[in-house]
Parts: sequence; C-alpha cells; structure tokens
Amino acid sequence: MYRTHTCGELNISYAGQKVTLCGWVQKSRDLGGMTFVDLRDRYGLTQLVFNMETNKELCEQARKLGREYVIQASGEVMERSNKNLKMPTGEIEIVVSDLKILNSSELPPFTIEEETDGGDELRMKYRYLDLRRAPVKNNIILRHRVAQEVRKYMDSIGFVEVETPVLIKSTPEGARDFVVPSRMQPGTFYALPQSPQTLKQLLMVAGFDRYFQIVKCFRDEDLRADRQPEFTQIDCEMSFVEREDILNTFEGLAKQLFRSVKNIEFSEPFQRLAYSDAMKFYGSDKPDLRFGMRFGEMTDLVKGHGFSIFDSAEYVGAICAEGCAEYTRKQIDELTEFVRRPQIGASGMIYARVNSDGSVKSSVDKFYSPEDLQKWADLMNAKPGDLILVLAGVKKKTLSALSELRLEMGNRLGLRKSDVYVPLWVVDFPLVEWDEEEKRFFAMHHPFTSPVPEDLKLMESDPGKVRANAYDLVINGVEIGGGSIRIHDATIQKLMFKVLGFTPEEAEEQFGFLLNAFKYGAPPHGGVAFGFDRWVAMFGGQDSIRDFIAFPKNNSGRDVMLDTPSHISEKQLKELQITTGQKK
Ligand code: AMO
Repeated sequence: MYRTHTCGELNISYAGQKVTLCGWVQKSRDLGGMTFVDLRDRYGLTQLVFNMETNKELCEQARKLGREYVIQASGEVMERSNKNLKMPTGEIEIVVSDLKILNSSELPPFTIEEETDGGDELRMKYRYLDLRRAPVKNNIILRHRVAQEVRKYMDSIGFVEVETPVLIKSTPEGARDFVVPSRMQPGTFYALPQSPQTLKQLLMVAGFDRYFQIVKCFRDEDLRADRQPEFTQIDCEMSFVEREDILNTFEGLAKQLFRSVKNIEFSEPFQRLAYSDAMKFYGSDKPDLRFGMRFGEMTDLVKGHGFSIFDSAEYVGAICAEGCAEYTRKQIDELTEFVRRPQIGASGMIYARVNSDGSVKSSVDKFYSPEDLQKWADLMNAKPGDLILVLAGVKKKTLSALSELRLEMGNRLGLRKSDVYVPLWVVDFPLVEWDEEEKRFFAMHHPFTSPVPEDLKLMESDPGKVRANAYDLVINGVEIGGGSIRIHDATIQKLMFKVLGFTPEEAEEQFGFLLNAFKYGAPPHGGVAFGFDRWVAMFGGQDSIRDFIAFPKNNSGRDVMLDTPSHISEKQLKELQITTGQKK
C-alpha cells in the first residue's frame, strides 16, 4: 500500500498517529534547522516537516526535493505551533521519519498553485499540469457532480440514457459540420453530430418515450467564451407531451440541480417571457434578469424636433441608470466609446440627467425644451439622480447595442452578482427568420420545430409572423438550453420544408430517413437540450466554459497540447483518396 491517508483528510484528531502520504511537492521552504514541504494530491495539501537536529540525513534529502517531485512520506501527525486555520489540514503537520522519491520532475513551466503565473496558452499546452491546480481541478470535479445529479434525477423520472452514434449524417442545427472521410466508400463523408436531434426523434418513433443522454456535440463555428467546437449537451426527448409538460419536467431538473449542487431552493415557478417582449424590453433573446433597466421606446416621442439623428432613426430607445446623474464627462465619454466599438456598432449616445430638483438636462437641449425632456423622464420612470441613456438607428442593431449598454451598466452598478441566479423561459420564438443575403427563410431553431397551433394558418401567407412552439432556458443572460415541440404530422412538415425553400427532393435527400420513419406512426413528441458546459460554468460562477472542460480547444479551435488539427500522413490521405494542398 502506497499510502494510509490522503493529503486532504488529516486534522487535529489524528495527532499522534503514524501515517504515510503520497503526492506532489508543491513547495518547499528551507528555514535552516527545519525544512517544510507542502505535499499535494487531489484531496488537498499537507505540510511535511523535516528537522535537521533529529534527522540530518533525511532533512538534507528533503532539501533536494524539486517542485512536482512525486514522493512517499511517512511520519507522525503533530499539532502545529503555527496554525493555518484557512486550510482543512492547517492545524497539523507530519514530522517525517521516512521519505522515498517515487519520481522526479522537471521544473514545471508555471507555478502550480491556486494563483498561477502561467498565461492561457502555456496552461493549455501543459493542461495536465494546469489540472493539478485546485481551482481547475475543482471545476472538473464540479462537472462530475452535476453529471451524477443529472443522471440520478433523469433516471428517477423514467428517462432512459441511450447512446447515439458519432459518425452520422449532417444534422440540421445550422452551424458548419465537422466531417470525417470514409475509407471504405472513398469520396464520401460522415458528419459529426451538431446534436443528436434526428436520432432522438427516431428514438421517439421507436417508442422509448423518455430519452436522455449526456453527449458530445460538434459545431464548426466561431468560438467565444461560452462556445467550444466540441461541447456537451444534456439532450432529452419525450413523447405524448405538450410544451407545458416539457417546461415542467425540465424546470424540475433545473430546480433539483440548483438544490443538490448549489443548495439553492426555487419555490416559485420560473418566469416566462415571450421572445417579442424579450426583444422589446431587453433587446436580447437571452436577457439577464438579475436587474431591471428595461428599455423604453422613444421613437415617436423624439421625432420632429429637428434633431436629424432621431428624425432619421428607425428606432430610438433608452435605458434609465438609477443614481447615475452625477456621471462625469469622462464616464459618459467611456460609455460613448463603449457603444461605438465595432462589435457593438452604435454611432453615438445621447444622455439626459435628471437633476436633484427634478429638472432634466440633456446633451441635445438645443432641440428639446424642458417640457419635452420631462416627457422623456416620465416615459423612463426616471427619478431625480437618474441618468437616461439613449441610442438611435436601425432597429435590430440599436436594440442589440442598447442591450450591450444595459449589460455594461449592470456590470458598472454591480447588479450582476455571481451568487444570484434568475432563471427564465423565453417562449414563442419566431418559427423562421428571413435571410436578406440568401433571400429565403431559415428555421430559427431547426426544420422539425412545430408552429404554435394558432399560427398554423399563417404558414403560407405570412411565415415570418408564425411563432414556433419553441423555448429556451436562460439563466443570468446565458442561454442554458433550448428545445421545441416537434412536427409529427407529414402535411405540416411538407409545408415547413416549402417555407424553407426545400424542394421535396432536397428534403428527401437530407432528411429522408426521418421522413420515412415518420410514416410508421410517429408519436407527438418534443424535447430540449441543455449546454452542459455552460451549466457547470454558471454553477462555478464563471462566464467561460473553458476551465470546466478537462482538455478544451483554444479560440482558434486548436488543441495546443495535442498540437492538432495537424497534417496526416501521405499513406492515410492516399487510403482516403484525398488530395490536399498539404506540404509533403
Ligand atoms: P441548441 O442548438 O439550442 O439546440 O443547443 C442546445 C444548447 O447547447 C448549448 N450550446 C453550446 N455550448 C457550448 N458550445 C457551443 N458551441 C454550443 N452550442 C450550443 C447551448 C444551447 O442552448 N437539438 C437542439 C435541441 C432540441 O431542439 O431539443 C439543439 O441542439 O446552451
């Protein structure tokens, strides 16, 4: 047996016991007569002490230990004179009587401690060392915890976990596919699933009734903090259900995860918001409802006063920042710079301060009388001391810019607290979206999403107005999951393909297997998929999902540790009958 205990479990109640520990040398301090070594394993840190007076040889051996050496140390648990009450093992130390070096280590490229001096790229290159650091390790263990809770809960309500294949045909999620060439049928390709969407629907046709899977998905899309090219979903599908059944079932899952992982109880049902209201009041289909600051539309109110920016704008909207009337010129300029950033895209920002006497002073006083400005304040429910921030322009872009400004103000005012969670179902998304470039409709979710029954009559005459029977779970401004009730009726599916501009042949070519299956008694069904990485990162209080994935990719989609994507051998290419521009 290598060890009797771990480095995280010994405390004062073990004083006097003889123990053996194994682990990595995190740090050693040589204080002349004494040498202290912090020994680390998955469970924690324990201080080892070597005494020059009592065991000179051993102490000299300990002095030679380098960082990250793997050692086995035996000795007696002693109460420390200099206690560190912040550490679970901080009241004791091991007075070592036996030391064995199990393996040496090169000097690691960065410090393996809570706070590291390693930059992102270096940490990723040596991810196996980075994973030794407690914050990253704890994220991975949190991920494990959440996965176990998901499985426990889903099993308890009758869901069956079914694995679906990874080498499949293109799925309709709308990002680019990653493809895998076939050797046996040269010139043909598998696609890696963007999600198991079609397969889970086939499982419903197969009568599985309640399916779930914690599953890898692959999407070749631009990466961000909350997007990885391969990520994990909690993917679910149910038969004989309506929207309400799905929302209730998965609100149950969400509440159980909050309860078991975060010890947070939600006694009230989650809020719901129609997509149209989400856009109108927050300019986003994933509003952060930890704070208010709803938009006020001022388009009609501000037109006709000779201020050309407002007169020519399709949309003028504002937010009211409570207590910010005292903002300095510099702070206002910073905000203006912020909305002007290319990725935000506003051309400028107008403001109005509500002074302590109730009078309103704006940056466009020339065009608006005190009475006009009072109407702005009334519309925005602004009180003395508040600051009204106004953006104007093309509607879609301005709503989005105002949404960014709202989030920025939320950050500045400390309204986005990481320990507060506000879940929200966004419902009634549009079924299809017009693409100006391609001059055709695209499914906002995917082509199997059913329309809201009342809107079916608009499918042919005004498809852009049809609402989808789709829903997203949004928590603190993050889209945690999304799903829909599916179309199970062949006539409606045909109509949907027609709206999307698919010929019957194209539909057959891409989704023939599913349409075929639907001929054999497809039950009414629907489902949802949650971004597992996002959920775990949110529980871990971070925006980026990267440190909640053991071996993630960087923002260019590279695994810098494996050094891939990489070239493959000529032999492999030949077998696959693929020619590339790759250098020999
Ligand atoms: P959707 O495309 O909305 O739906 O994906 C579901 C959830 O997966 C997460 N997600 C991602 N997480 C990390 N990196 C990514 N690149 C990424 N892309 C998506 C999000 C998102 O809400 N088949 C449908 C679900 C259904 O209709 O049942 C689907 O995949 O949290």
